[in-house]
Amino acid sequence: MAERAVERIGGDNLIIENLHYSYGGKLSIFEGLNLDVRPGEFLAVIGPSGCGKTTLLNLLSGFYSPERGSVRLRGKPIAPEDPNLGYVFQAATLFPWLSAIENVEFGLRMSGMPPKERRERAQRYFDLVGLSGFENYLVLRLSGGMQQRVSLARCLAMEPTLLLMDEPFGALDAITRESMNDELLRIWDELGQTVLFITHDIDEAVYLSDRIVVFSRPPGGIYKVVKNELPRPRSGPTTRTADLFWKYKKELIADIAMVTAQRPTDEAELAELKLSTEIERKAEKQASRDTEN
Ligand SMILES: Nc1ncnc2c1ncn2[C@@H]1O[C@H](COP(=O)(O)OP(=O)(O)OP(=O)(O)O)[C@@H](O)[C@H]1O
Ligand SMILES: [Mg+2]
Repeated sequence: MAERAVERIGGDNLIIENLHYSYGGKLSIFEGLNLDVRPGEFLAVIGPSGCGKTTLLNLLSGFYSPERGSVRLRGKPIAPEDPNLGYVFQAATLFPWLSAIENVEFGLRMSGMPPKERRERAQRYFDLVGLSGFENYLVLRLSGGMQQRVSLARCLAMEPTLLLMDEPFGALDAITRESMNDELLRIWDELGQTVLFITHDIDEAVYLSDRIVVFSRPPGGIYKVVKNELPRPRSGPTTRTADLFWKYKKELIADIAMVTAQRPTDEAELAELKLSTEIERKAEKQASRDTEN
């Protein structure tokens, strides 16, 4: 079995310090965001649509660069190709021409791992997400929930210490989502990664996390951080019916209603409008160039 990520990371936190970011220098998303995530912590992030959750993950993964401030893991900025980093996107982005297990092997193949070793590693994570028996299925023949599992296994197989998850179960029905939540907790318990988990679902945030960060509209950043004292291990029938679960849920429903009702400032609205006009203009120019060619 793989060494637990939390032991590999040692005592280093993921540190977000004085983070500033805007799109096109105009639409300001973060103006001095600070957040410390300890190794092996499960952090859920919720907030209204457009508040900057995906932007934050893109900054954490090094796809975007901060305008000011920094994001550091073990004291260093993170690059998208960093092997410590795993990113699970909202939609399962799998290769339809490969079998399920070949999809899980893909990143390992790219990293140059020899065939026998990579098949064994892929199989281990394939089994861990409960897919044994479906190795040779083309992904199009799997259900949405199974495809999400393949996607998760592919990410886990790289054995990242930091797992960024952007509404990974958003497209699933409630029952499949709950069983994926249990699956994820079981894997996290075994492997001990640091997890940043974005969701729109308050139940999911409360069920999974050690802390819940509520974002407000940009450039507001963090509205509130809730420490989640629900005992572990968690299980559907016990955790979801606990008084504390309902207390957090009620509190977060009120918080989300509050941040959703915040009016964007006139400047933010104006900036967004200007930016989208610029993007449209560029797209139009490109389209007319394409027609000419
Ligand atoms: N590439 C981009 N260029 C310009 N503006 C962008 C870009 N990506 C996102 N935005 C804007 O930045 C803001 C934050 O977007 P982001 O995708 O981070 O929100 P989110 O919190 O993930 O929303 P959702 O919950 O809907 O996924 C939005 O106003 C969005 O329109
Ligand atoms: Mg998003």
